[in-house]
Amino acid sequence: MHQGKRALSVGGGKGGIGKSCFSANIGIALSRQGRRVVLVDTDIEAPNLHTFVGITYPQRTLDDYLNSMVMGIEEIVLPTPVPRLRLISSAGSGLSLSGPNYPQRQRFFRAVMGLDADTIIFDVAAGARMRVIDYFSIAPIMVIILEPIPTALENAYGFLKNLLYRHLLRIFYTDKPTHRMILDVLGEKSSRAGQSVEALLAVLDRRSHEKTETFSSFIASLNHIYVVINRVRSKEQEEIIDRFARVVKRYLMLNLRFGGFLPFEPDMDKSIIARTPFIMQFPDSPYAKAMESIILNLQL
Ligand SMILES: Nc1ncnc2c1ncn2[C@@H]1O[C@H](COP(=O)(O)OP(=O)(O)OP(=O)(O)O)[C@@H](O)[C@H]1O
Ligand SMILES: [Mg+2]
Repeated sequence: MHQGKRALSVGGGKGGIGKSCFSANIGIALSRQGRRVVLVDTDIEAPNLHTFVGITYPQRTLDDYLNSMVMGIEEIVLPTPVPRLRLISSAGSGLSLSGPNYPQRQRFFRAVMGLDADTIIFDVAAGARMRVIDYFSIAPIMVIILEPIPTALENAYGFLKNLLYRHLLRIFYTDKPTHRMILDVLGEKSSRAGQSVEALLAVLDRRSHEKTETFSSFIASLNHIYVVINRVRSKEQEEIIDRFARVVKRYLMLNLRFGGFLPFEPDMDKSIIARTPFIMQFPDSPYAKAMESIILNLQL
């Protein structure tokens, strides 16, 4: 176990693949090991992390904090039925459509990272829109949840691609023609659409060596992205992780790390309906055991 505060974000692009379920249960598993954990629901359009940890109506939410000039972050951190596990919920209404803007998000992140806790876990929404990517990239440890089906792989690939392009667009923001070209490649309006990031770097390098170097070091800094395969039903499905990592390495130049496998649990939905966190109810289940290995792999 690491000393000092750890922060991880959980994403993956595709909806309904178990991101919130993973966030809640890894939070519970860590709190059972004695860590003080804060879960953060960043899914402002469809927040539901509170339900996974057994809270029916969150009394305070992120909205209350963002809308108030006086409220401290501690005031929106809710206790849960699980000892040492707390929650920041997004289940509100006010800002749900537009979402917090960039300065509001920055202020929020700084405050969250200052909380008295050992581990902070950001549960991220589905999709790969910029706001989702921004929430995902806040934490130094990133977890991509996959399911062993082609659509999940496609969405996770698109998610990682957007993560890189988001940063690339920032670096080239003041160089309008290059910025436009990157947007075209991203929007697949260009003949370079299917090319690898490596090939794109060669093109960009001719436009600005310095900016391209900055981008290359950003890619190199993304060295704590872990992949977890959820709802695994057979040994063969585990092989998908190697194939995915190879494609990501080849086209996006990212070195993904092995997070682990989580089995399909037939009783998962029952525990959600009963609002009893799964790992609390079944601490010796294969899912709970697999979560312990993931905690080791992530060096939490
Ligand atoms: N390992 C598992 N075995 C069985 N069911 C699972 C497993 N993991 C998640 N589920 C079920 O999958 C459903 C979707 O899970 P969850 O809400 O965590 O997905 P999500 O990726 O957060 O979705 P969204 O994109 O809407 O935020 C839930 O009903 C949950 O019970
Ligand atoms: Mg979710």
